[in-house]
Amino acid sequence: MSELAIKNLHVMIEDKEILKGLDLTIKQGEAHAIMGPNGTGKSTLAYTLMGHPNYTVTEGEIWFKGQDVLQLEPDQRSRLGMFLAFQYPVAIPGVTVANFLRSALNARRRAANPTDKGIPIPEFRKMLKEKMELLKMDSNFAGRYLNDGFSGGEKKRAEILQMATLQPEIAILDETDSGLDIDALRVVSEGVNALNGPDLGVLVITHYQRLLNYIKPQFVHIMLGGRIVESGGAELALHLEEHGYDWVREKYENGEPQSH
Ligand SMILES: Nc1ncnc2c1ncn2[C@@H]1O[C@H](COP(=O)(O)OP(=O)(O)O)[C@@H](O)[C@H]1O
Ligand SMILES: [Mg+2]
Repeated sequence: MSELAIKNLHVMIEDKEILKGLDLTIKQGEAHAIMGPNGTGKSTLAYTLMGHPNYTVTEGEIWFKGQDVLQLEPDQRSRLGMFLAFQYPVAIPGVTVANFLRSALNARRRAANPTDKGIPIPEFRKMLKEKMELLKMDSNFAGRYLNDGFSGGEKKRAEILQMATLQPEIAILDETDSGLDIDALRVVSEGVNALNGPDLGVLVITHYQRLLNYIKPQFVHIMLGGRIVESGGAELALHLEEHGYDWVREKYENGEPQSH
């Protein structure tokens, strides 16, 4: 059973400490959501998990399948079974979605076995067709040029299809950035629901409370000031939807004893 364990994580960007002792454990097969107001460090966590060079870990640990993730390059993390939705370049002119996915999959296979000749094309086509049916995607989508004039929803669709193709054990999806229209939200939610199962653990990061009308995470965490301050089940998200974040701020920003 794979497990992603984040312990007492402190991260700085430039001279500013953004993550201030974050703890989180996600097991393969579990669906978690992190919610929190803007500026609390949610994307910082996603970028740090990805290994983005601008984010400096000053304290704490990240473990996945018994490996010290902080010692691994982004591609090694991916090979190990971690998927981060935005780890690949945004636009590749002249490359179709299908070709991009096949290259990504072959790179992954070659990393595991240097003599691998790549997935045979008929086998790849069959697999892609199955995944696209599972995700209820139009078969024309695979022939489109990657991110060429894609809407927010289509970019998300490409990411989710990539996730389905690479079959990671843990997927981290940061949903706060631009282009989050209702279509994109629906694509991500349906994709996560279709793919989440005993083999795939998911962490969805969002400031968008309505995401949870679509995805039903078993675990919901509230992040504030660079730490996870509250954890619970789906009822926590419903509570946030009704009451917003003020009660969280009052509880954790006004000098009351903190849980960490
Ligand atoms: N590249 C950067 N350089 C300097 N500060 C940054 C950078 N990216 C984010 N920050 C700051 O880090 C804090 C957390 O940002 P972020 O992780 O994007 O929060 P969230 O995703 O929760 O909205 C914010 O105060 C933001 O201004
Ligand atoms: Mg963000």
